[in-house]
Amino acid sequence: MTSALPYANGPIHIGHIAGAYLPGDIRARFERMAGSEVLWVCGSDEHGAAITLRAKKDGVTPREIVDQYHAEMQEAFAGIDMAFDHYSRTSSDKHHQVAQDFFLKLLESGSFEVKTDAQFYDAEAAQFLADRYITGTCPKCDAAGAYGDQCEKCGSALSPTDLIDPKSTLSGATPVLKDTTLWYLPMGRHEDWLRDYIDSGQFNGEKHHDPRAWKSHVNGQCRSWIDGGLQSRAMTRDLDWGVPVPVEGADGKVLYVWLDAPIGYITSTMEWAEKSGQNWRNWWQSNDAELIHFIGKDNIVFHCLIFPILLKEHGDFNLPTNVPANAFMNLEGDKISTSRNWAVWVKDYLSDFPGKSDELRYVLTSIMPEQKDSEFTWSDYRERVNNELADVLGNFINRVIVLTKKYYESEVPPIDRIKWTADEDAIIAALDSAPGEVAELIRRNRFRDALQTAMGVARLGNKYMTEQEPWKLKKTDEERTAVILNTCIQVAANCSLLLEPFIPQTAQKMQAAFGIKNAQWEQASGAMLQPGAVLGDLPILFEKVEESTVDAQVEKLRTSHASAAPAAACEPLKPMMTFDDFQKMDLRVGEVIACERVPKADKLLQLTIRTGLDERTVLSGIAEHFEPEEVVGRRVTLLANLAPRKIRGVESQGMVLMAESADGSLRFVTPEEGTAAGDTIR
Ligand code: MF3
Ligand code: ZN
Repeated sequence: MTSALPYANGPIHIGHIAGAYLPGDIRARFERMAGSEVLWVCGSDEHGAAITLRAKKDGVTPREIVDQYHAEMQEAFAGIDMAFDHYSRTSSDKHHQVAQDFFLKLLESGSFEVKTDAQFYDAEAAQFLADRYITGTCPKCDAAGAYGDQCEKCGSALSPTDLIDPKSTLSGATPVLKDTTLWYLPMGRHEDWLRDYIDSGQFNGEKHHDPRAWKSHVNGQCRSWIDGGLQSRAMTRDLDWGVPVPVEGADGKVLYVWLDAPIGYITSTMEWAEKSGQNWRNWWQSNDAELIHFIGKDNIVFHCLIFPILLKEHGDFNLPTNVPANAFMNLEGDKISTSRNWAVWVKDYLSDFPGKSDELRYVLTSIMPEQKDSEFTWSDYRERVNNELADVLGNFINRVIVLTKKYYESEVPPIDRIKWTADEDAIIAALDSAPGEVAELIRRNRFRDALQTAMGVARLGNKYMTEQEPWKLKKTDEERTAVILNTCIQVAANCSLLLEPFIPQTAQKMQAAFGIKNAQWEQASGAMLQPGAVLGDLPILFEKVEESTVDAQVEKLRTSHASAAPAAACEPLKPMMTFDDFQKMDLRVGEVIACERVPKADKLLQLTIRTGLDERTVLSGIAEHFEPEEVVGRRVTLLANLAPRKIRGVESQGMVLMAESADGSLRFVTPEEGTAAGDTIR
């Protein structure tokens, strides 16, 4: 199993976690408990324009950027308990070697086409423009701000020359064309077998995987790309940061980041194998290995089409057997955005909520965007933690431990069969079936439902205990009380196993209290703990979240977002108007022939303006910006047919147009030299 190598260009936020990492972690933890042989690798993606642009923006080297974020991301992942078997990075010598060898193998087998032709070039920055160095309008969906390699709006894979109205992101300039040599992957050659692979799960004429096990939005995206025709894609770039193209005379050229990064999964596996004395090939080149990529939906084309082509062309490798991509998670009504600082950063969360990684994992899993986009809100976080984790799970487990201690000195009580009822039958039947159901859902990557099913067991136990009221029976019916408590203990012990993939720290605390060591999935059943087993103590599992706590988080989000707004922020566009709307305005050149302050109005100047038609009085709210003497004699742009309005007893007959800069400063919109009062503006 792999999770998308995150770009080392910024910290990790909840959208990353819910998208590609938590699914991998839940699945890996489950598979380990279930005794499967599983390996889960990841690492930092340290090449590409995401890195070099960030370095340029911060005025530091790409090396400094990746070193900083590689360390930060690892810390965040550890803090939220991502149990990778290995976490690597793509700027290492080892990875450069592996990626270059891979490239050469493909080169030798004729997988690439070499072409020299004109590419977009920024003459000012003296750099070829590809990927995030160039933006424009997406030719597929018309969205503005599509990049040279991809439209993030519709997910389409693009080439710079596909963009409508392309602009350099370095200088804003319209790029010029300049010749360069690039190695292309002719994807069109691969359409037929890719269609079989995606549509029917066939590869090399054999069944490869069950296509119905793939998410429909993943299949659908792939199919529409193939149907739209696959274009050749350049696999090299003219950049000085990346894996150098290992070919004589290719100085200043590196591998395309989307060629080297997925190979990073292989490098990560090799490093793991080296450190643990294993054979990496078992995971990539053996017939009985599965390959599962956990990613976000913007990565689908690279994992489902491009990487499979590379793997197939290499010859020795398995293809992905599933790519359970997630959609996006929004935050408090808006898209998560690093540049706009609209995010919940894992690092900040862990410092504001120390020791509460399970709470976040629980909420993120509950709303994981498995089939479509979802939304995180702090009020929902609070409700789930309080109503589900604290009131149901925490409360139930605590009551079980406390009552067993009080009534039986913490020993699991024996059962008297005569006192056994249909209620207990129902509970035990549920315990016998739940492990299989949760397992099945996790294997199908249905983590939300899996968590609900596991929590259903806790809910059932909580309800059963509340209804049976053993604290009342204790005085009248010892035997019946023992049956109930024993049954509750079984439920609680099961919860500690079934919830482990989702909330591992809590599960550990519970298992410690129930004396469960080396938890295995198959231990979960209706009869987990034998009479006489001794229960330990339980720390408080969950604290309730105050309303003021989540309010403060929302406030923090809004203020940090506001302060991240760039100084030159533009006002958003107003709603469209028609040409007729525009034509209603009578705009003309006016000349200011007199100007004075308006008594008792700090902001207002009273202007006398010659319009060609008349001389009229206009009030303007610019007194804090201009002295009257600065205004007299100016030519201005006047909206002449604005309905008159009385302000401070003076009638204003029109409006003078001003330009306002982001820092709040005002300037006149002055018609050019040579215009005169009365000229019309249209
Ligand atoms: N860095 C990419 C992203 O954040 C993901 C790379 S996945 C890999 O979108 F396959 F290339 F490793
Ligand atoms: Zn698009």
